[in-house]
Amino acid sequence: MNHFLEVAIDAAREAGAILRAEFDRPKKISYKGDVDIVTESDKRSEAAIVARLRSHFPSHAIVGEEGSEGTTPEKGARGAKYIWHVDPLDGTTNFAHGYPCFAVSIGLVEDGEPIAAAVLNPIADELFTAARGEGAYLGQKRIRVSEIEKLSTSLVATGFPTHARNSSVNINYYWEFTLRSHGVRRDGSAALDLCSVACGRFEGFWEFGLHSWDTAAGALIVREAGGTVTDIEGRPFHPDDRSILASNGRVHAEMQQLAADVAERAAATK
Ligand code: IPD
Ligand code: CA
Ligand code: CA
Repeated sequence: MNHFLEVAIDAAREAGAILRAEFDRPKKISYKGDVDIVTESDKRSEAAIVARLRSHFPSHAIVGEEGSEGTTPEKGARGAKYIWHVDPLDGTTNFAHGYPCFAVSIGLVEDGEPIAAAVLNPIADELFTAARGEGAYLGQKRIRVSEIEKLSTSLVATGFPTHARNSSVNINYYWEFTLRSHGVRRDGSAALDLCSVACGRFEGFWEFGLHSWDTAAGALIVREAGGTVTDIEGRPFHPDDRSILASNGRVHAEMQQLAADVAERAAATK
């Protein structure tokens, strides 16, 4: 197996063990903004991942949600050839409330292109992995996106950013997609939502306001499973994008068009 992926998997498993052990204990919660929860577990998980990545790849940059941005010794993360995008706990709100849906997400990006990815749900013990050109896997099993052709028979997913939750435009999209599909799930972990597209549980996923640590790994897993990943307007995915539209490919154009219609209507009523 690809050495980058091997290290990503070991790091995800180590962090996953920390989260699993801490899931049942009382949690010490603090707030980054008025509703943006962070726990001690987010920080402990990130510390373990960063230490492992550093020991294997001292020249690589790391962008971690809990503050490891640009921690490469020589230069900030932005100019680096290899950047690890790390979400040590994707789904902190779920974790803090005892809802067992969260993940560790680790993606390696080379010159803007994701090349290795590991996303672990430590409670379900589901490990999703991908390396560029080598397919996507759930455990040992190769995964593929679904073959559903139409939005009307699709199950899709979205999420709402924790900051500025009460003014999110996404509620308009949520409304429309709910009326035109089998339903919209809102599970609280963008990384797992992307993996659910990759293994055919969902036909599509969109969200606004995400960061590279939420999407870099999951986007590669969707692509390697045969899906399509763009921003909400259909431009090819880049880890620094704030919006994302991921799908099985077959319903992509329809989802993109519906999103464009919603945006146009919202602009007209301003
Ligand atoms: C959040 C989750 C959630 C998404 C939010 C993210 P966090 O990440 O991915 O599903 O809707 O936008 O911020 O804060 O739990 O790492
Ligand atoms: Ca996240
Ligand atoms: Ca997080």
